[in-house]
Amino acid sequence: MRLVVFGAGYVGLVTGTGLSDLGHDVLVYDIDPDKIAKLNDGRIPIYEPGLADLIHRNQRGGRLSFASEIPASFDRADAYFIAVGTPPGPDGSADLSAVMAVADTIARVAKQQALVVVKSTVPVGTCDAVQARIGHAGVPLEVVSNPEFLKEGDAVSDFFKPDRVVVGARSEEARQLLRELYAPLQLSGERLVITDPRSSELIKYASNTMLAVRISFMNELSRLCHTTGADIHSVRLGVGTDSRIGKKFLYAGPGYGGSCFPKDVQALAALGRAHGVQMRVAEAAHAANEEQASFLAQLVDTALDGVKGKQITLWGCAFKPETDDIRESPAIRLATALLERGAVVVAHDPEAGPNFAKHFGNKLKVMDRNYDALDGSHALVLLTEWRSYRAPNFAEIKRRLQPSAKGVAPLLVDARNIWRPAEVLRAGLRYQGIGVATHPPADRPSTRGSTA
Ligand SMILES: NC(=O)c1ccc[n+]([C@@H]2O[C@H](COP(=O)([O-])OP(=O)(O)OC[C@H]3O[C@@H](n4cnc5c(N)ncnc54)[C@H](O)[C@@H]3O)[C@@H](O)[C@H]2O)c1
Repeated sequence: MRLVVFGAGYVGLVTGTGLSDLGHDVLVYDIDPDKIAKLNDGRIPIYEPGLADLIHRNQRGGRLSFASEIPASFDRADAYFIAVGTPPGPDGSADLSAVMAVADTIARVAKQQALVVVKSTVPVGTCDAVQARIGHAGVPLEVVSNPEFLKEGDAVSDFFKPDRVVVGARSEEARQLLRELYAPLQLSGERLVITDPRSSELIKYASNTMLAVRISFMNELSRLCHTTGADIHSVRLGVGTDSRIGKKFLYAGPGYGGSCFPKDVQALAALGRAHGVQMRVAEAAHAANEEQASFLAQLVDTALDGVKGKQITLWGCAFKPETDDIRESPAIRLATALLERGAVVVAHDPEAGPNFAKHFGNKLKVMDRNYDALDGSHALVLLTEWRSYRAPNFAEIKRRLQPSAKGVAPLLVDARNIWRPAEVLRAGLRYQGIGVATHPPADRPSTRGSTA
């Protein structure tokens, strides 16, 4: 098939490249000329494991191309994919201006019958609104919903081996075309969910909010652990081993971040408000997440007996490992809170450092090497559980840090609960995890942290 993908971001780039690897002829279009120039130059504008090789292979094979101008061949596509951003507006509702701008372009250029596939995360009713908007196109265009579930850091593998693909289409013809498109992925049984566009749109928000609720609930419990003396690792194990609940996505941490959970939970709440239905659970998940961010800032402040004038190092700027995406990352929230309280902040991240430095300008320093970021700091806060942070040299950390007060050992705040407190303490450092006592028993279950 001949396919056009609008948006060369995390979703559009992975989807377009994946589809070209399945043998389709794909053009990825983006309004950002710098992004496209980079891609045409063989440089990849985002960090996503495995993506660069896949792009280069399909570019060489002539199946994948990139454009920031609308080429003549644009009008002869079998399907147009919309994969542009839907950021939150001031009231939390999804801003659909980019989606609608793309719809207008498609209506203007399409010269043959085609599908318009909405991959962007959009509120219920958007496909119908797009359908009405492009009704004036001179050729039949059917709008279908096909929400994206990829996880940044694992996106390529998620494209080829998705848990499921959801398709919301009204006509049998459209459903059949998408079945054919995804046929090489060999999705058997319930792994291909075919429904109407409105249900499909809601499935995406429901999935992200369900996951966000799990994290927020564990984060609330972690705060209760701090005041009651319970241990969140044991709680997670004891709760998660119930097969009805399961152990995944039950990690306490610095609060969820990224370009999806915070915005999608709020968009679902806004969607409810627009329809007169109060989405109390979504609202509570969001509120609990905000509280977790304040809780972490307060935890650091209390442990250092005030952060004003103190230097604090953050390890991890990305909202999770294996990505350079810092949108809504816990590191942004914590760095902002610490700077507001008068602290000096130094940061490191294996991939997201440049994005973090760009975000904060000269308000903080971002170092290339993680140990260099520690020199002279009073505390280290681990925010992203990158593999390279999992087994650090604690003696080296101790050498680089300085005591926060006379006779008080430098502080390690493990906001992902990935380090063994005993090891940290042995190196002469103080340890503080999330939902665990400062000196937890050495024999607690070793089921440790992962991305939230
Ligand atoms: N990032 C994720 O992990 C993820 C996962 C699932 C779903 N989603 C959803 O997919 C959508 C895209 O997310 P993303 O993270 O890829 O966004 P992104 O910000 O990385 O990329 C969006 C791209 O669209 C381009 N763009 C904007 N207006 C355009 C236009 N009129 N024509 C062509 N290109 C245009 C931008 O220049 C940008 O490159 C969002 O709705 C998001 O919620 C994202």
